[in-house]
Amino acid sequence: MTKTILVTGGAGYIGSHACKALARAGYEPVAYDSLVRGHRDAVRWGPLVEGDLADRALLVATLKRHRVEAVMHFAAFAYVEESVREPALYFRNNVINTFGLFEAMREAGAGRIVFSSTCATYGVPERVPIAEDMPQHPVNPYGEGKLMVERALHWLDAAQGLKFAALRYFNAAGADPDGEIGEDHDPETHLIPLILQTALKQRAEIAIYGTDYPTPDGSAVRDYIHVQDLAEAHVRALQYLEGGGSSVALNLGTGTGHSVRETIASAERVTGLSIPKREAPRRAGDPPALVADARRARAVLGWQARVSDIDTIVATAWAWHSARAGRAAPTRGTVSG
Ligand SMILES: NC(=O)c1ccc[n+]([C@@H]2O[C@H](COP(=O)([O-])OP(=O)(O)OC[C@H]3O[C@@H](n4cnc5c(N)ncnc54)[C@H](O)[C@@H]3O)[C@@H](O)[C@H]2O)c1
Repeated sequence: MTKTILVTGGAGYIGSHACKALARAGYEPVAYDSLVRGHRDAVRWGPLVEGDLADRALLVATLKRHRVEAVMHFAAFAYVEESVREPALYFRNNVINTFGLFEAMREAGAGRIVFSSTCATYGVPERVPIAEDMPQHPVNPYGEGKLMVERALHWLDAAQGLKFAALRYFNAAGADPDGEIGEDHDPETHLIPLILQTALKQRAEIAIYGTDYPTPDGSAVRDYIHVQDLAEAHVRALQYLEGGGSSVALNLGTGTGHSVRETIASAERVTGLSIPKREAPRRAGDPPALVADARRARAVLGWQARVSDIDTIVATAWAWHSARAGRAAPTRGTVSG
């Protein structure tokens, strides 16, 4: 019998890619999303239940109706800067609403969850690469809320046997290689879409915040992981829990960092365009480098990133963004800036 997985946030960027990966792996994904920040047309691999996490009765009814045993929980607000301005909004949606989901799961008898955590739980790390057992000291309400949920999961497992995989993503990027779905945030804050919007002349220039970091070229370094690799890791994590695996927290990254300048250079290679850039001061709270120690995910899940080299990430994102902007992606070298 096909197993049904409830995918909260299934109309969002990463959740929609997870739905596609679940369907490919033989599951039926039921997306549960209020569409507050998602897109109806990103739900293509199973039904959409349009509802809010805060609606406990609808959650319980949905879990029971579809006999759901496992949940992938993506639904959240995910803007760091917004969380600094509006902490209560973030604690309510990302923490309190998540606790409501846990209670609904208990009532409906669903005992497994794959949770979207983040490298923001580490704060400013003492060193890179960051291993899972390094201290977690978040420096914003977004990371703090995600850490609260991780801690709650620990105690729920101890008390009730709720089995979880807390997946700490580094920088999700790229788009579905088939071009069916991609990143569509408004406002957009992620570097690669911003660079590509600049290439498409939707923005005047891309700012390089900080050029004096202790990194090889002075700009900040991040670990970009292709959204399809992330989605596949979720399926592996689900199968690991189904196989009786104990609860676990895992980094999802590649173990390789790319600086802002390198990422812009990749976009210039992929698009064949010269992208206007501007050097700007560091932003408060931006760590110089965030790079995963990705070994535990490989050991526990047998997973490793397959399509996360920076040019592939940028090329898939470029195909998505340029198609949405109403033009075919120019091939390398055909257009000059
Ligand atoms: N994008 C990244 O680089 C990144 C990195 C680390 C962690 N994460 C986490 O991954 C998850 C998915 O991120 P994303 O980039 O796909 O975000 P997204 O905004 O594209 O998707 C989130 C989805 O959740 C839905 N949602 C939010 N609150 C809801 C509520 N109360 N009830 C029902 N639906 C609700 C939104 O409508 C949206 O469709 C989030 O939990 C985020 O914190 C993302």
